[in-house]
Amino acid sequence: MNTHISLSDRGLTITFGTQPQYFNYYWLRDACVSCIDPQTRERIFDSSALPNPPRATDAWIEGDHLRLSWQDEAVVSSVPMLLLRDVADQGRLYDPADLPQKLWSNEFEPSIARVPQSDVLHSDDGRARFCRALIEDGIAIVTGMEPSKESLTALVETLGSITPSAEGYFFEVRVEIAPTNLAFTAGPLEMHTDLPGEEAAPGLQFLHCLENTVEGGLSLFLDGAAVAEALRAEDPEAFRLLATYEIPFFYRHDRLDYRAHQRVIETDQQGNVTGVTISQHLQDTLDLPQDLLDEYYPAFIKFIRLMQEDRFVVRFRSQAGNCVVFDNHRIVHGREGYVADSGKRHLRGCYCDRGALRSTYRVLAKQGFDGAVAPVRETA
Ligand SMILES: [Fe+2]
Repeated sequence: MNTHISLSDRGLTITFGTQPQYFNYYWLRDACVSCIDPQTRERIFDSSALPNPPRATDAWIEGDHLRLSWQDEAVVSSVPMLLLRDVADQGRLYDPADLPQKLWSNEFEPSIARVPQSDVLHSDDGRARFCRALIEDGIAIVTGMEPSKESLTALVETLGSITPSAEGYFFEVRVEIAPTNLAFTAGPLEMHTDLPGEEAAPGLQFLHCLENTVEGGLSLFLDGAAVAEALRAEDPEAFRLLATYEIPFFYRHDRLDYRAHQRVIETDQQGNVTGVTISQHLQDTLDLPQDLLDEYYPAFIKFIRLMQEDRFVVRFRSQAGNCVVFDNHRIVHGREGYVADSGKRHLRGCYCDRGALRSTYRVLAKQGFDGAVAPVRETA
């Protein structure tokens, strides 16, 4: 393929075939491979130390690198062509963890990825399948968990460190005499995401079912991103309101008073839904201007009602030995009420950062374990 380079004052244009792509000189100077220390892999070049804005005097392709000489520096920079192509094609660096979300509805339960704990712990392929499902679907079930308290720690640490919350490193979901949270009762638990009152609500949630012999108490999950997209299609203005304005949440007891504002629908800079925050039991008194509430409340109620529609909700019984893992910023969860004295129900929970999940997946993907499930081969 013909590649043509033309220099200008503040950058250059490379034409890959027929596709021209402009690159700024500061950016190119910063992207030189010599700017990264090979041992620490950290940046060791400070572009603010340049006395004048960088300006290329020549640029040419040598092997798989772009080479540049500079007006005020006796250096020749080397920038990988692969990086330039990624920027030309996608606008940014290739990220193996940047997998599109696969939105799901109420028929998804049989398709939830189920990976044995021993595979997650001891097999790169098993761990990659687990990570990929969490990134794409937002939920996965780890089966065959060792029936001990340490079992959950071992599982989380395949991704990273346990992230503490206001409740500490772990929480126990079972009936308590003086509950600090509706989860610790036998009552129904409305659909919610956890701890929106914290500055950074927990990323991934782990719920290890140690015991469940009660009548009722089905676990409920839905894909908040799918519901948000349904709202966008049905009522774009309601979507805009929920994706624009922050509302207050809390977590409050005798010795705690957490408060934070969150958007109910989280979007990225491209407008893609990255998550939702919903918790009516931890929602504080709304403090948006009262006349804005005339518009906001109907949108908010519409979204909550949409989430209650059967078409979105998956219901299943938490089984002892399983650990449900899900993205607390995307998957909305709840529980049906149960008969407290009909048996025992005990789930041990904790959180982990979503950055740790993506980091683990990137390392595995670079080693060739992308976690993709091979398509089922049709037999004659
Ligand atoms: Fe919860």
